[in-house]
Amino acid sequence: MNTPILVTGGTGTIGSRVVPMLRDAAQDVRILSRHRGEDEPGIEHVEGDTVAARGLAEALHGVDVVLHLAGGAKGDNVAAMNLATAAKDAGVRHLILISVVGADAMPIGYFRAKAQAERAIAESGVPWTVLRAAQLHEFVLPMVRGLARLPLLLTPGGLRFEPVHVEEVAARLTEVALGSPAGRVADMTGPEVLDIRQLTNTYGEVMGARARRVVPVHIPGAVGRAYRAGENLAGEDKQQGQRTWQQFLSGLRAEVDDREARDRSDSLRRGRITHA
Ligand SMILES: NC(=O)c1ccc[n+]([C@@H]2O[C@H](COP(=O)([O-])OP(=O)(O)OC[C@H]3O[C@@H](n4cnc5c(N)ncnc54)[C@H](OP(=O)(O)O)[C@@H]3O)[C@@H](O)[C@H]2O)c1
Repeated sequence: MNTPILVTGGTGTIGSRVVPMLRDAAQDVRILSRHRGEDEPGIEHVEGDTVAARGLAEALHGVDVVLHLAGGAKGDNVAAMNLATAAKDAGVRHLILISVVGADAMPIGYFRAKAQAERAIAESGVPWTVLRAAQLHEFVLPMVRGLARLPLLLTPGGLRFEPVHVEEVAARLTEVALGSPAGRVADMTGPEVLDIRQLTNTYGEVMGARARRVVPVHIPGAVGRAYRAGENLAGEDKQQGQRTWQQFLSGLRAEVDDREARDRSDSLRRGRITHA
């Protein structure tokens, strides 16, 4: 048993990939989540709520390093402030926050809360690291899938993403957690900047959706201007993952094909048993 790293959001999309990577590095982990989890060797669970400031002192007891990955649509600023105060009180030596690329530039509540969260961490008095990540493939997928179901291909002009693979973000966070406080580090993105047409075309090619008439759409107001100006994209100083959108979709496609093949052989087997 070594001093555990506290991972808030260790049950989430990113956190659930980080936890086994920390375990592979022989690092013990404590997960803070709103739900009770099953402890296992090297992994303990503490129930708490970062927004409601519940269970934080217990979660931070005896901890040197905190990886703050818990997040939601609302309240990430409050959660970071609560955690920063509690971490300072607990004598934490390294407080790490995952934020989002464009946090200080996008006029959207989620991004503004992330910018405030970054400030709370930087002003906590605890040595810190902030890693801004681009949108995960998993985040972009439902939007693209939704667009692929429409009879026309709506393409909001100027809307671009640089989607990144979850395992690559998790690996970078693991490296940060096992390293020293570094302040704001290079943003983490995927290998390509893609607009909606490119994202949906590749989706169609890999998943077999048909081509449709393209209808350009204008995103109005400050949000539209910010997207057209690429405020949600990383600048020159970025660390790019390797896995492309096409490779991510091909992986999904292979999973779907495998599942269908298994279902077919299961129903064939059941049919043979029924007729035997
Ligand atoms: N997904 C992306 O594309 C992306 C991109 C850049 C940055 N980020 C940021 O990365 C972080 C993790 O994202 P994700 O995609 O892994 O999120 P996710 O899958 O939605 O998971 C959210 C995690 O946060 C925990 N959580 C939420 N509210 C909480 C609260 N009040 N108290 C304690 N735990 C709470 C959840 O745990 P329980 O439900 O078990 O309590 C869960 O483990 C978030 O801060 C997100 O903003 C995400």
